[in-house]
Amino acid sequence: MRDLNEHNITDAVLESFAGTHNPRLLTILNSLVRHLHAFVKDVEPTFDEWLYTIHYLTRVGQISDETRQEFILLSDVLGLSMLVDAINHRTPEGATETTVLGPFFVETAPELEQGVDISNGVPGTPLYVDVTVAAASGQPLADAIVDVWQSDSEGFYDVQRADTAGHNLRGRFRTGPQGELRFWSITPTAYPIPNDGPVGELLRASQRHPWRPAHLHFMISAAGYQPLVTHIFVDGDVYLDSDAVFGVKQSLIDAFPEQPAGLGPDDRKMDAPWRRLTYSFGLIPA
Ligand code: BEZ
Ligand code: FE
Repeated sequence: MRDLNEHNITDAVLESFAGTHNPRLLTILNSLVRHLHAFVKDVEPTFDEWLYTIHYLTRVGQISDETRQEFILLSDVLGLSMLVDAINHRTPEGATETTVLGPFFVETAPELEQGVDISNGVPGTPLYVDVTVAAASGQPLADAIVDVWQSDSEGFYDVQRADTAGHNLRGRFRTGPQGELRFWSITPTAYPIPNDGPVGELLRASQRHPWRPAHLHFMISAAGYQPLVTHIFVDGDVYLDSDAVFGVKQSLIDAFPEQPAGLGPDDRKMDAPWRRLTYSFGLIPA
């Protein structure tokens, strides 16, 4: 291993890893070395550019903590999160498509009774959520656990607001005997992903906006089925075709049709127009 140059160094590095016992790790390392070397040969970075890259990735790490994960955000805006998701969720007929989890899921969301209003009175257009959980084959799934979370009408999640004591616009429900789940909320709005760090710098340098189209998050688990992590997007949102994290799928867009003021679906008196989300989720057997 001497006199290595730009023509033979890749093979030398591959050879150095040849003793790796774990076959999967060997595959990954070989591919990583080949692709990284090809990238450098393609770009031919200057030393300054290389050092900038090292410092950039260092800052991505330094701004991350238990609640902020800038590496995942970087993976999101590079389309890598959705690519990994697509490879791992090749959905069969009848199954709901998946999308990114995002950073605002909270493991400890409160367990709630169906029919409640998860908005706790924050302003917004009332939304009645009326969904069912079933197997991809159509069989309804009772007792599925459904986590929901969403932004408020100013585009913030509860965890981003210093003034929110406890949980808001999120909850954990259990489906009824026919796989049904009904609750009240407000219509979610579009919002920018966190862009005050290195990922924001990257977006600005490439003239990209940080916005995600309005959506309601769902994480659904049922015994004997693969967990489903997805969103339902609000049709008509201006960012549907430029989601900062590439997460939109046509099958996950719903009109959230507007309903007139009057009597609501659970006989509640509605003073103003409200919106309704009706959707059927299909889960894949484990
Ligand atoms: C979200 O939908 O909550 C989200 C996803 C990826 C990055 C930032 C936010
Ligand atoms: Fe979100």
